[in-house]
Amino acid sequence: MTAETVATLPAEPPAELLAEAEAFLTLFHTETGTPGLAGRLAQMRHEVAQTGSYTLTPAELSHGAKVAWRNSTRCVGRLYWQALEVRDLRHVSAAPDVFGHLLAHLRDAFNGGHIKPLMSVFGPGVRILNPQLIRYADDPLNADFCGLLREFGWQPRGERFEVLPLAIEAEGEVQLFDLPKNAVQEVDIWHPDYPALADLGLKWHALPVISDMSLEVGGLRFAAAPFNGWYMQTEIAARDLADADRYDALPAVARALDLDTRRERSLWRDRALLELNVAVLHSFEAAGVKLVDHHTATRHFARFEEREAQAGREVRGKWSWLIPPLSPATTPVWGRRYRAREEKPNFVRCPYAGAHGTGRS
Ligand code: ARG
Repeated sequence: MTAETVATLPAEPPAELLAEAEAFLTLFHTETGTPGLAGRLAQMRHEVAQTGSYTLTPAELSHGAKVAWRNSTRCVGRLYWQALEVRDLRHVSAAPDVFGHLLAHLRDAFNGGHIKPLMSVFGPGVRILNPQLIRYADDPLNADFCGLLREFGWQPRGERFEVLPLAIEAEGEVQLFDLPKNAVQEVDIWHPDYPALADLGLKWHALPVISDMSLEVGGLRFAAAPFNGWYMQTEIAARDLADADRYDALPAVARALDLDTRRERSLWRDRALLELNVAVLHSFEAAGVKLVDHHTATRHFARFEEREAQAGREVRGKWSWLIPPLSPATTPVWGRRYRAREEKPNFVRCPYAGAHGTGRS
């Protein structure tokens, strides 16, 4: 344990911090079979009494991050929670260093297309304002964030699929960093049976790296802990590119497929949606980039539920997030119900208070 990591912000007032710390350290020692719980608890209490906070060991941090994923009620990909690789970067707190480690994160998580789940945990005072490390300026979802970037001096070039700079808050100020082209892996979308679909010029980035959620473990909060898995094709093809208030591509896809868009009863929306999903699956596969389909992902989720039951744990979930937006009733999640109450460790979304706010909530 090093001096500079002691200053991690407690998420809770002291009494709750102690309770959360005890609960988590007990969970850690029990689940990992690590001996010495009593001694660890005594040491933690002593550190809290002396400093108002305490420091997780790298092993505790790593396990806590994995359990936070396991507890993520909206995530259908939780079967792989134990495979999360956690980078302990709690000693990193200067913006250019954070940026360097984020570039390494993007490269290593992409892993030549064999995407691996990865999290980078940064030190106190660091915060990434972007909701994800890779986001596009012309995606209406990012309009508010683009407004914030403009306050920091960013100006869009006005291109389609323009990648946004990273806004990193560190040591009390926000700095912008452009992502170099080679840091952002993208896949052009095309359809094996409908060549005209490629002419739409659709593409998407390979990695979803969530960067606006704090990791909460043992009563401590890590505001900068970006993490990624791999995409499920519905996220891109049934939401990001398809939603009317996102890229709204279904009318153009329908024209490329030569569908009758004058009558709803032709189900042109559904057919365009289905073929766009086929196109995304096909394009990622041809590009050698890992991505899962919704039938496989939900079957894996059912296996996750079985494993959790064997471990004596209840799986919590937000059903409306777990079902896929395409053909949900064909998947095993459809007929199941979940309790949605959140457990810790977990991730909490902490929206940026704005350039003129405290930056903390
Ligand atoms: N749905 C989000 C998007 O389309 C990504 C959320 C995380 N997804 C994941 N497969 N880990 O960008």
